[in-house]
Amino acid sequence: MTTDTAPPAPAAPQATSAPPAPPPAEHAVDPAGVLQVIRTRAVVREFTGEPVSDDDAKALAAALVAAPNGANLQAWAFVIVRRPQLLLSVRAFAPGVFAIPALILVACLDHSRAADESDTRTHKEGRLCVAMAVENFLLAAHALGLGACPSSSFLPGPIRVLLDLPDHLEPVMVVSAGHPAHPPKPAPRRDIDEVVHYDNYA
Ligand SMILES: Cc1cc2nc3c(=O)[nH]c(=O)nc-3n(C[C@H](O)[C@H](O)[C@H](O)COP(=O)(O)O)c2cc1C
Repeated sequence: MTTDTAPPAPAAPQATSAPPAPPPAEHAVDPAGVLQVIRTRAVVREFTGEPVSDDDAKALAAALVAAPNGANLQAWAFVIVRRPQLLLSVRAFAPGVFAIPALILVACLDHSRAADESDTRTHKEGRLCVAMAVENFLLAAHALGLGACPSSSFLPGPIRVLLDLPDHLEPVMVVSAGHPAHPPKPAPRRDIDEVVHYDNYA
């Protein structure tokens, strides 16, 4: 008689003849196309006078809120300015925006989403989340054939007044966007082997 109490071997995977289910349609992306959008994005600072359509504005908005963010608190708020007179007023307080765009995004950190004052993660790291949303916006704009340029050079006070921003919203970045006056020109990058290391820095 044996008292062998070894745990049972894990069950063998069920043999099945059914092929794996295809990914849901919304996940069926073209990797090469996505990587091309990422690789070929470059800032666009000059725009034609053509407006950004409602459909494109909605697609840009959807890209913003799809971004990863700390604890999924979504401690952000975005104002997409397209009304021409208001756009010129915002631009007047954003010296980092050189030409006249069709759209200005004001991307804000929403401090009211923090648990309390001690929630330093949201108060401090929230800017990282806003930056991630802005990168989504830049890539979506490029994918739509639009151009965009982020800027951290702006006067938050006047922009706060112009857009009726409540105190708990802190503008972090403005982005100008529109139809490119010229094709985007890739900016030079440091050699990839100089900045990307595998497994250790040596
Ligand atoms: C935090 C931040 C602030 C920036 N501020 C400005 C700005 O005020 N004006 C501007 O024209 N571009 C601004 N840029 C755009 C950079 O100049 C641009 O991303 C950089 O030269 C690399 O070019 P690329 O985006 O075409 O690869 C900013 C970018 C970042 C990430």
